[in-house]
Amino acid sequence: MRVPMSDFACPQLLEQEQDVFFRNTPLCMGLSSELPEPNTYWSDNVTGIPILMVRDGEGRFRAYANVCRHRGGRVVPEGRGSRDRFTCPYHAWTYGNDGKLLEVNKGSRFANQSSIDLPLITLPSAELCGTLWVRPTPGDPVDEEESLAGLQDDLVHWKLSSHPHAGTQAIDARMNWKLGIDSFGELYHINVLHAETAAQEVMGDLQTFDSFEKNLRMVAANQRFNLMRMLIPDPAHWPYKQITSTTYFLYPNVIMAVGPMGVDFFRIFPLGGSPSKCRTIHTWYVDPNVEKHFTDSAKSYEHGLERFRDAVEQEDYPMMEDIQVNAQRGIQAEIVFGRNEPSLHHIHNAHRLGLGRELLPVEDI
Ligand code: FES
Ligand SMILES: [Fe+2]
Repeated sequence: MRVPMSDFACPQLLEQEQDVFFRNTPLCMGLSSELPEPNTYWSDNVTGIPILMVRDGEGRFRAYANVCRHRGGRVVPEGRGSRDRFTCPYHAWTYGNDGKLLEVNKGSRFANQSSIDLPLITLPSAELCGTLWVRPTPGDPVDEEESLAGLQDDLVHWKLSSHPHAGTQAIDARMNWKLGIDSFGELYHINVLHAETAAQEVMGDLQTFDSFEKNLRMVAANQRFNLMRMLIPDPAHWPYKQITSTTYFLYPNVIMAVGPMGVDFFRIFPLGGSPSKCRTIHTWYVDPNVEKHFTDSAKSYEHGLERFRDAVEQEDYPMMEDIQVNAQRGIQAEIVFGRNEPSLHHIHNAHRLGLGRELLPVEDI
């Protein structure tokens, strides 16, 4: 497949992507364990729309625009916690976690207090197989089949909601948001770019590929795979989670990798309205079987996050930033994805399909 480099540098294309992908498409925000019990909340601004997500008293997941109906202030500061009512820091209007306006501070000063019926604006949301989905703009409900497209069995299998939130970090880079996604989309580069790091753990240039409508799944074998094959000849008895890592692309902007340490979840967004800047939000949800090793030492979650950030910031993203510079200079019209990079074919055409653009042919390169 040949992809025009202008796809990474065009401001008009970015505007269209912002509107279609980041305003009007349901986005996978994270795992259910972000809201571990009734009356918890998570306030998140990274989509560009301030979103308040809650688990209400009955345990139902709901989402609202985190915008005060009085004068438009942000009701809940970014973060997570336990609470069932929220007071706006500007003039102290208070909302319940069902979105209702419970109290207008000094309401008698409004001419007709009983006419103030201004709940938080509800955003379409759904909790699907241990994942939380929100459409950042009011509109059609989140459709499970459209969002997961056959991945339900996989997600249920991983018992995602039993993986607690270990930590979240933001990584900013000077590159198009799609290049961030591309950097996770093949293992061809592992033995070269990550010869001293990831290649010690993962076998490079070897992966499966399966598509699920606009989503996809790729499985990599880790370095213990061959040893395991010798020790346990019957594949039915292989401890898959210990010897593989399974990576999903959840359309339009999420990479989710499930491995022995848990789930690494990446949400990648354009930043500052620029086609050449992006923000990656990396969240680690720790596998309950290894959780104890980390909670024994207060710093070790941080250490795990740092290790990951270093690999991305020092190896993958600098390469992508170079590609971005070249895309902007327009020296070369196209880049090439070979037949051993099928996920990249899929992701780029899934985005094109979403925007109603012409699909790129998959040639035998
Ligand atoms: S803007 Fe929220 S109470 Fe006034
Ligand atoms: Fe990489």
